[in-house]
Amino acid sequence: MALYDLIVLGGGPAGYNAAEHAAHAGMKVALYEERALGGVCLNEGCIPTKTFLNSAKIYESALHGDAFGVTVEGAKIDHAKVVDRKDKVVKTLVSGVGAKMRGAKVTVVTGSARITGKSAEGFTVTDGKEENTAKKLLICTGSEAAVPPIPGLREAVESGLAVTNREILDIRAVPKALCVIGGGVIGLEMASYFAAIGTKVTVVEMLDKIAGPTDREISEILQKNLEKKGVEFKLGAAVTAVSGKIGAGTVEYKLGDKAYKVSCDTVLVSTGRRPRTKDIGLENLGVQLNRGAVVTTECTRTSVPGVWAAGDVNGKSMLAHTAYREGEAAVRDMQGIKDSVDYRAIPAVIYTKPEVGTVGETLESAKKAGINASEHTMSLRYSGRYVAEVEGGDGIVKIVIDDDHKTIIGVHMIGSYASEIIYGAAAMIAEEKRVSDVQKLVFPHPTVCEVIREDLFTIK
Ligand code: NAI
Repeated sequence: MALYDLIVLGGGPAGYNAAEHAAHAGMKVALYEERALGGVCLNEGCIPTKTFLNSAKIYESALHGDAFGVTVEGAKIDHAKVVDRKDKVVKTLVSGVGAKMRGAKVTVVTGSARITGKSAEGFTVTDGKEENTAKKLLICTGSEAAVPPIPGLREAVESGLAVTNREILDIRAVPKALCVIGGGVIGLEMASYFAAIGTKVTVVEMLDKIAGPTDREISEILQKNLEKKGVEFKLGAAVTAVSGKIGAGTVEYKLGDKAYKVSCDTVLVSTGRRPRTKDIGLENLGVQLNRGAVVTTECTRTSVPGVWAAGDVNGKSMLAHTAYREGEAAVRDMQGIKDSVDYRAIPAVIYTKPEVGTVGETLESAKKAGINASEHTMSLRYSGRYVAEVEGGDGIVKIVIDDDHKTIIGVHMIGSYASEIIYGAAAMIAEEKRVSDVQKLVFPHPTVCEVIREDLFTIK
């Protein structure tokens, strides 16, 4: 048994980043992780999907290079090799996180952590073999795929006909037909990849639009682009049953009163994720939960003094970059440094082709919040670089303005580099920049981000 200043439960982006910061701040830290370091993001989320999508991008460029004067004879994609490369990239990055932990002198415990209670010295945590104690706890146990109670779906997951974000990354044979339940971020990124490599993809989404809270016009542009690649969308569709076996499955859904069927060899369940708060002993401390998520303040404190929570487990934003920031805020709060996470300015990206990058309010959400807002839309074709690099592109940027204060409160973009551009927009929102402030900024030329500047000059 050892006594630590801090025990971190979970080695994903929130946990490993916080552990490193805390150790550099002089704390004696133990980090518990039951699987590989890096969490869902590194092992079965952000990073592996980006390796897939980059291979698709290269393949699509080879297939459709004609307009750019490039012809590639016999272009092929070998999905098994894409999976091998993904494994290599993940392995490299996971070992990088391990090296960081060693460098910071964080004790990594490989095992499932469970909080057993509180002693005179602090909180007690066990991995089933040994109990350790810490003055402070940080809960970073992340989230898991939520499998909705659709008849037959649980059995389909057990038989391997249906997969989640985890298993789909290891399938080596290209599915001929993939049915995606849920047209959110995971569903769309995987639809984009598999459609690009020749799979017949059908997305069944219960809402009347894809991409969840994304601005409706941007969702529609994305949908059109994916349809051009052959993805079929069934919107407003309620899935009623899943049946069959690997290689011969059926997804049944209803549109209004009419029943339909999709035949497929694999089903991807991407209907959202839920915080992982079960079986970690939170009840032994009385940590308050709300619908399964740990309730936290803006500086990540839980209801129990001495216990913080960061990342997906608090159910607030469920993004790796929010997790990093929350982990840092937690450590600063532990040190008595005032900090809070600014949830108004968290960028979100969908890494499809074209990419979507959004941050802040949409016109719809602003109006709902009672803000006197307006939106200003401009085609990315105002960018010379965009026209030079993209044939027939239909990308746009939308800027949402608080008209009472003339500040930028939302930026929404679809098109090339959106994922890299959006952080600049997040900074404008976090710093409550006025339109007139940003009009004075110098943007590099020629770039796609210049359209933000052009768009701002249309605002009176
Ligand atoms: P999501 O919340 O993005 O989308 C789930 C979709 O499934 C929603 O559109 C919902 O209406 C639909 N749905 C739910 N139940 C359904 C049903 N029974 N039938 C049909 N449709 C149904 O969740 P997703 O895609 O699973 O992603 C999970 C989390 O992972 C998200 O919170 C996301 O932020 C994160 N993520 C982020 C990525 C990124 O930043 N690029 C990439 C992948 C995941």
